[in-house]
Amino acid sequence: MEAQRLLSGFCSTSPIPNAKTQFFVKYSSPSSSTTSFAQSHKWVSFKARPLSTKLIKCTNTTHTETAEVVVSSDSYSQDSIGGILRKKLAVFVSGGGSNFRSIHEACLNGSILGDVVVLVASKQGCGGADYARDKSLPVIVFPKTKLEPDGISPADLVATLRGLEVDFVLLAGYLKLIPVELIQAYPISILNIHPSLLPAFGGKGNYGMKVHKAVIASGARYSGPTIHFVDEHYDTGRILAQRVVLVLAKDTAEELAARVLREEHALYVEVTKALCEERIIWREDGVPIIRSKENPAEYS
Ligand code: GRF
Repeated sequence: MEAQRLLSGFCSTSPIPNAKTQFFVKYSSPSSSTTSFAQSHKWVSFKARPLSTKLIKCTNTTHTETAEVVVSSDSYSQDSIGGILRKKLAVFVSGGGSNFRSIHEACLNGSILGDVVVLVASKQGCGGADYARDKSLPVIVFPKTKLEPDGISPADLVATLRGLEVDFVLLAGYLKLIPVELIQAYPISILNIHPSLLPAFGGKGNYGMKVHKAVIASGARYSGPTIHFVDEHYDTGRILAQRVVLVLAKDTAEELAARVLREEHALYVEVTKALCEERIIWREDGVPIIRSKENPAEYS
């Protein structure tokens, strides 16, 4: 892995056009799409991903009307802080989506220099998808299954995220395996949150309440969320941030889960903020660390 890399995006931003009915989004091709960042030994430059001209189907509410909405890169405002452009985020959920909500709210209140531009759900009917529809955010179902026939293919998922100029993908309680096509399309740009201190209590099958039950049964006195980069396997990508939560002697799994979840909300917002502000640095040995905003000489 290249040393000292700093994650960088390259997009300006705009909220997805409001649409209270089911709608289609049509992407326009950019006239020119090359943007590079200044290079130094600490930075790498990126080229803007070209927009594809594509008609995608997004689900929104129970209405059946359709409308065509043109999302053009030209229509995005150049909102930035200190030369750093706002980032576009795709959040993936399978359940209630409380982490998604806290990230979305932090984007809206200005804490995060970014916007959630699309919600990817593994099922139409989940709390996260309902919240997104309520907020007029496009909802995409992935993957396609017997129960979710409106789901899209991995290739269409990648094309859709690229069409929306998504910079970073945030998994927030998404239970399906991320296709290799997406991992290759978004190198070092996909984060996941796991409700234990990885590498403990992670891996396939370790999700939800099972994690907290296993933590309590093990006798561990500490638990807490981990945010890590996503690779081809479950919970094995590079650890970026953790928070410690006490496991109390008489904790039930539900009580521990609630305490960990509170920390998750704060941690995911904090990390997403750093990600969007390009404060994630890759140490020589390949470990990602976060530069403090208040004191740029400090890292965590
Ligand atoms: C969280 O505990 C997260 O760590 C795990 O799934 C849960 C999602 O919760 N990956 P929510 O849907 O964000 O409320």
